Amino acid sequence: MNMQYTTETSELLSEAKKSVLFTAELPSVVMERGEGMFLWDTKGKRYLDFIGGWAVTCLGHSPTILQDALHQQASTLVNCSPSFFNKPMIEFASLLTQVSCYDRVFFTSTGAEANEGAIKLARKHGSINLGGAYEIITVINGFHGRTLAMMSATGKKHWEKLFAPKVSGFRHVPLNDIPSALAAVNPNTCAIMLELVQGEGGVHAADPEYVYQLRKACDAHGLMLIFDEIQTGIGRTGKLFAYEHYGIEADVMTLGKGLGGGFPLSAMLTKEPFNLFEPGDQGGTYSG
Ligand SMILES: Cc1ncc(COP(=O)(O)O)c(C=O)c1O
Repeated sequence: MNMQYTTETSELLSEAKKSVLFTAELPSVVMERGEGMFLWDTKGKRYLDFIGGWAVTCLGHSPTILQDALHQQASTLVNCSPSFFNKPMIEFASLLTQVSCYDRVFFTSTGAEANEGAIKLARKHGSINLGGAYEIITVINGFHGRTLAMMSATGKKHWEKLFAPKVSGFRHVPLNDIPSALAAVNPNTCAIMLELVQGEGGVHAADPEYVYQLRKACDAHGLMLIFDEIQTGIGRTGKLFAYEHYGIEADVMTLGKGLGGGFPLSAMLTKEPFNLFEPGDQGGTYSG
């Protein structure tokens, strides 16, 4: 073992303990480099990476195509602000509409942020088209991110008391329980949101009949159906999007993780009838 690297690593780790906010107990290694399916730490030790950046590095670590795209864009234009269109934004939105059943794309940075956009759009739909309905039905142990609203959406027992009071307006039902889902629909409901395969919740797939019944209920009551494909999208289930396995289309789909291949990029895609935001409703410094 090279002493210089050992010393450097222990210095970095002791600095991390002082200056990095504690959120989780992490192993005593510092990652420095990635290539393909391998990571290297600051001591030069190589790891076969089964984590894949929490399911984001779908092309492996630092693939040439990503390096080139980032390099080319960084040396052309980094941020023109969301006050203007930019070329890659238009090209990528157009590509996503061509390969999916959706008509419009709103770009964000994280999955939680894309889902927040979907929830806001659902409530906008409720206020415009459903007499002020605001409630969203979500699935117990679903995972939609860690903003306060998304932690309220999950219905995860473990999070029930965390950061109270939670954002209200979410009704949680068990996965694949059709009667419970249908019984939860009430005059305040504006949307149903779910993952087609729960990822964080333990790899539980939604039954095709369940998804079909949710689609039917949404059509009957004018509700927005939202598929969170942040984990299942971009080829993770063998098709580009998991909804293709079901042959059922939601009104809104969110993407993240594999979308940027490790670069923070997410998106909310919607069909034209739900292109409902008005100026001032939605935006963000890094949107698009
Ligand atoms: C299905 C699903 N939705 C949303 C998220 C949140 O994404 P992010 O961590 O980028 O906010 C995740 C992350 O694991 C996820 O698996």
